[in-house]
Amino acid sequence: MRLLTTPTLLLLLSTWPASPAAAQSQSGLSLTIYNDPSTTGYTYHGCYNETTDLPNTTGLRALHGGKVEIEPGEMTVQRCLQHCSSGAGDAQGGNTAKFQFAGLEYARECWCATALSGLSVKLADEECDLPCEGNKSQACGGNLKLTVYTLNSATRTAWSTAGFVVVGAAMSLALM
Ligand SMILES: *[C@@H]1O[C@H](CO)[C@@H](O)[C@H](O)[C@H]1NC(C)=O
Ligand SMILES: *[C@@H]1O[C@H](CO)[C@@H](O)[C@H](O)[C@H]1NC(C)=O
Ligand SMILES: *[C@@H]1O[C@H](CO)[C@@H](O)[C@H](O)[C@H]1NC(C)=O
Repeated sequence: MRLLTTPTLLLLLSTWPASPAAAQSQSGLSLTIYNDPSTTGYTYHGCYNETTDLPNTTGLRALHGGKVEIEPGEMTVQRCLQHCSSGAGDAQGGNTAKFQFAGLEYARECWCATALSGLSVKLADEECDLPCEGNKSQACGGNLKLTVYTLNSATRTAWSTAGFVVVGAAMSLALM
Protein backbone atom coordinates (compact mmCIF):
# COMPACT_ATOMS: atom_id res chain seq x y z
CA MET A 1 0.00 0.00 0.00
CA ARG A 2 1.29 3.44 -0.93
CA LEU A 3 0.10 6.71 0.60
CA LEU A 4 0.02 9.83 -1.49
CA THR A 5 0.71 13.15 0.18
CA THR A 6 -1.91 15.88 -0.04
CA PRO A 7 -0.03 17.91 -2.73
CA THR A 8 0.28 14.79 -4.86
CA LEU A 9 -3.38 14.05 -4.38
CA LEU A 10 -4.35 17.60 -5.34
CA LEU A 11 -2.23 17.25 -8.45
CA LEU A 12 -3.99 13.99 -9.25
CA LEU A 13 -7.39 15.55 -8.72
CA SER A 14 -6.56 18.54 -10.89
CA THR A 15 -5.67 16.24 -13.77
CA TRP A 16 -8.77 14.11 -13.25
CA PRO A 17 -11.15 13.94 -16.24
CA ALA A 18 -13.77 16.68 -16.10
CA SER A 19 -16.63 14.23 -15.81
CA PRO A 20 -15.39 10.88 -14.47
CA ALA A 21 -19.00 9.96 -13.76
CA ALA A 22 -19.83 9.54 -17.43
CA ALA A 23 -19.00 6.14 -18.85
CA GLN A 24 -19.85 4.78 -22.25
CA SER A 25 -21.21 1.26 -22.44
CA GLN A 26 -20.43 -1.13 -25.23
CA SER A 27 -23.95 -0.71 -26.52
CA GLY A 28 -23.37 3.03 -26.86
CA LEU A 29 -25.73 3.85 -24.00
CA SER A 30 -24.48 6.60 -21.75
CA LEU A 31 -23.91 5.22 -18.26
CA THR A 32 -23.96 7.27 -15.09
CA ILE A 33 -22.01 6.30 -12.01
CA TYR A 34 -24.55 6.73 -9.25
CA ASN A 35 -23.00 8.57 -6.30
CA ASP A 36 -25.16 10.10 -3.60
CA PRO A 37 -23.28 9.76 -0.29
CA SER A 38 -25.52 12.12 1.69
CA THR A 39 -28.62 10.04 0.91
CA THR A 40 -27.23 6.51 1.02
CA GLY A 41 -24.21 6.80 3.34
CA TYR A 42 -22.10 5.11 0.65
CA THR A 43 -19.57 6.81 -1.62
CA TYR A 44 -18.44 5.58 -5.02
CA HIS A 45 -15.05 3.88 -4.55
CA GLY A 46 -14.18 2.82 -8.09
CA CYS A 47 -14.34 0.01 -10.62
CA TYR A 48 -12.52 -3.07 -9.30
CA ASN A 49 -11.46 -6.35 -10.83
CA GLU A 50 -12.96 -9.62 -9.60
CA THR A 51 -10.39 -11.98 -8.03
CA THR A 52 -11.95 -15.38 -8.70
CA ASP A 53 -9.52 -16.33 -11.47
CA LEU A 54 -6.36 -15.10 -9.79
CA PRO A 55 -3.82 -17.68 -8.61
CA ASN A 56 -3.75 -18.37 -4.87
CA THR A 57 -7.16 -16.93 -4.09
CA THR A 58 -8.84 -20.37 -4.17
CA GLY A 59 -11.69 -18.70 -6.03
CA LEU A 60 -12.40 -16.05 -3.40
CA ARG A 61 -14.38 -13.06 -4.59
CA ALA A 62 -13.11 -9.49 -4.28
CA LEU A 63 -16.03 -8.93 -1.87
CA HIS A 64 -16.53 -12.15 0.09
CA GLY A 65 -17.80 -13.35 3.43
CA GLY A 66 -20.80 -11.02 3.49
CA LYS A 67 -24.02 -11.43 1.58
CA VAL A 68 -25.05 -11.53 -2.04
CA GLU A 69 -28.31 -10.64 -3.74
CA ILE A 70 -28.99 -11.45 -7.38
CA GLU A 71 -31.98 -9.68 -8.90
CA PRO A 72 -32.32 -10.22 -12.66
CA GLY A 73 -34.27 -7.42 -14.27
CA GLU A 74 -34.47 -5.38 -11.06
CA MET A 75 -31.02 -4.53 -9.73
CA THR A 76 -30.18 -0.85 -9.27
CA VAL A 77 -27.37 0.79 -7.28
CA GLN A 78 -29.87 2.06 -4.70
CA ARG A 79 -31.26 -1.45 -4.17
CA CYS A 80 -27.77 -2.85 -3.63
CA LEU A 81 -26.79 -0.12 -1.17
CA GLN A 82 -30.04 -0.80 0.67
CA HIS A 83 -29.21 -4.53 0.84
CA CYS A 84 -25.75 -3.76 2.21
CA SER A 85 -27.13 -1.34 4.79
CA SER A 86 -27.91 -4.18 7.19
CA GLY A 87 -26.70 -7.63 8.13
CA ALA A 88 -23.03 -6.93 8.79
CA GLY A 89 -23.64 -8.19 12.30
CA ASP A 90 -21.01 -7.28 14.85
CA ALA A 91 -21.02 -7.09 18.63
CA GLN A 92 -21.86 -3.37 18.61
CA GLY A 93 -24.35 -3.04 15.82
CA GLY A 94 -25.97 -6.46 15.83
CA ASN A 95 -27.47 -7.48 12.54
CA THR A 96 -28.41 -3.91 11.68
CA ALA A 97 -24.78 -2.91 11.10
CA LYS A 98 -23.97 -1.76 7.60
CA PHE A 99 -21.41 -3.50 5.43
CA GLN A 100 -18.32 -1.40 4.76
CA PHE A 101 -18.38 -2.33 1.07
CA ALA A 102 -21.07 -2.83 -1.55
CA GLY A 103 -20.33 -3.87 -5.11
CA LEU A 104 -22.43 -4.36 -8.23
CA GLU A 105 -21.38 -6.92 -10.81
CA TYR A 106 -22.65 -8.32 -14.08
CA ALA A 107 -25.65 -5.95 -14.23
CA ARG A 108 -27.66 -7.86 -11.63
CA GLU A 109 -25.45 -8.96 -8.73
CA CYS A 110 -24.95 -7.18 -5.41
CA TRP A 111 -22.07 -8.19 -3.14
CA CYS A 112 -21.79 -6.90 0.46
CA ALA A 113 -18.60 -7.35 2.48
CA THR A 114 -16.72 -5.92 5.42
CA ALA A 115 -13.52 -5.68 3.35
CA LEU A 116 -12.37 -5.38 -0.25
CA SER A 117 -9.69 -7.92 -1.18
CA GLY A 118 -6.23 -6.39 -1.47
CA LEU A 119 -5.75 -8.57 -4.56
CA SER A 120 -8.51 -6.71 -6.40
CA VAL A 121 -7.05 -4.22 -8.88
CA LYS A 122 -8.64 -0.81 -9.41
CA LEU A 123 -9.60 -0.34 -13.04
CA ALA A 124 -10.66 2.68 -15.08
CA ASP A 125 -14.26 3.71 -14.37
CA GLU A 126 -15.14 2.91 -17.99
CA GLU A 127 -14.25 -0.76 -17.49
CA CYS A 128 -17.47 -1.15 -15.50
CA ASP A 129 -19.59 -0.93 -18.60
CA LEU A 130 -22.74 -2.92 -17.92
CA PRO A 131 -26.02 -1.09 -17.26
CA CYS A 132 -28.03 -2.09 -14.18
CA GLU A 133 -30.91 -4.32 -15.23
CA GLY A 134 -33.29 -2.26 -13.09
CA ASN A 135 -32.08 1.12 -14.39
CA LYS A 136 -30.25 1.05 -17.69
CA SER A 137 -28.65 4.45 -17.19
CA GLN A 138 -26.63 3.33 -14.15
CA ALA A 139 -23.31 1.47 -14.24
CA CYS A 140 -23.58 -1.97 -12.56
CA GLY A 141 -20.08 -3.37 -12.88
CA GLY A 142 -19.08 -5.60 -15.74
CA ASN A 143 -18.14 -9.17 -16.53
CA LEU A 144 -15.99 -10.04 -13.47
CA LYS A 145 -15.75 -6.34 -12.64
CA LEU A 146 -17.35 -4.54 -9.71
CA THR A 147 -18.72 -1.03 -9.30
CA VAL A 148 -17.68 -0.62 -5.65
CA TYR A 149 -19.10 1.69 -2.96
CA THR A 150 -17.77 2.25 0.55
CA LEU A 151 -19.43 3.61 3.66
CA ASN A 152 -18.51 7.24 4.09
CA SER A 153 -16.76 8.25 7.29
CA ALA A 154 -19.72 10.17 8.74
CA THR A 155 -21.82 7.00 8.55
CA ARG A 156 -19.00 4.92 9.96
CA THR A 157 -18.52 7.12 12.99
CA ALA A 158 -22.28 7.26 13.48
CA TRP A 159 -22.46 3.59 14.46
CA SER A 160 -18.94 3.14 15.77
CA THR A 161 -18.72 2.86 19.54
CA ALA A 162 -14.95 2.52 19.47
CA GLY A 163 -14.39 6.26 19.29
CA PHE A 164 -13.55 8.52 16.40
CA VAL A 165 -11.22 6.99 13.88
CA VAL A 166 -9.67 9.16 11.20
CA VAL A 167 -9.89 7.12 8.06
CA GLY A 168 -7.96 9.72 6.12
CA ALA A 169 -9.88 9.60 2.86
CA ALA A 170 -9.82 13.39 2.67
CA MET A 171 -6.10 13.68 3.27
CA SER A 172 -4.57 10.79 1.41
CA LEU A 173 -5.37 8.27 -1.23
CA ALA A 174 -4.47 4.66 -0.51
CA LEU A 175 -3.33 2.75 -3.56
CA MET A 176 -3.28 -1.02 -3.28
C1 LIG B 1 -32.00 5.83 -12.99
O1 LIG B 1 -30.68 6.23 -12.70
C2 LIG B 1 -30.43 7.58 -13.00
C3 LIG B 1 -28.93 7.79 -12.77
O2 LIG B 1 -28.55 7.40 -11.48
C4 LIG B 1 -31.29 8.48 -12.15
O3 LIG B 1 -31.05 9.81 -12.47
C5 LIG B 1 -32.75 8.13 -12.38
O4 LIG B 1 -33.56 8.87 -11.49
C6 LIG B 1 -32.98 6.66 -12.15
N1 LIG B 1 -34.34 6.30 -12.56
C7 LIG B 1 -35.21 5.79 -11.70
C8 LIG B 1 -36.56 5.44 -12.24
O5 LIG B 1 -34.92 5.59 -10.52
C1 LIG C 1 -8.56 -8.94 -13.88
O1 LIG C 1 -8.77 -10.27 -13.42
C2 LIG C 1 -8.62 -11.25 -14.44
C3 LIG C 1 -8.92 -12.62 -13.86
O2 LIG C 1 -9.60 -12.58 -12.65
C4 LIG C 1 -7.22 -11.22 -15.02
O3 LIG C 1 -7.13 -12.15 -16.07
C5 LIG C 1 -6.91 -9.82 -15.50
O4 LIG C 1 -5.56 -9.79 -15.90
C6 LIG C 1 -7.16 -8.81 -14.41
N1 LIG C 1 -6.92 -7.46 -14.93
C7 LIG C 1 -6.14 -6.59 -14.30
C8 LIG C 1 -5.99 -5.27 -14.93
O5 LIG C 1 -5.58 -6.87 -13.25
C1 LIG D 1 1.07 -18.74 -5.32
O1 LIG D 1 1.55 -19.57 -4.27
C2 LIG D 1 2.74 -20.27 -4.61
C3 LIG D 1 3.07 -21.22 -3.47
O2 LIG D 1 2.95 -20.59 -2.22
C4 LIG D 1 3.87 -19.26 -4.87
O3 LIG D 1 5.05 -19.93 -5.25
C5 LIG D 1 3.43 -18.34 -6.00
O4 LIG D 1 4.39 -17.32 -6.19
C6 LIG D 1 2.09 -17.68 -5.67
N1 LIG D 1 1.65 -16.91 -6.81
C7 LIG D 1 1.18 -15.66 -6.68
C8 LIG D 1 0.73 -15.00 -7.94
O5 LIG D 1 1.13 -15.08 -5.61
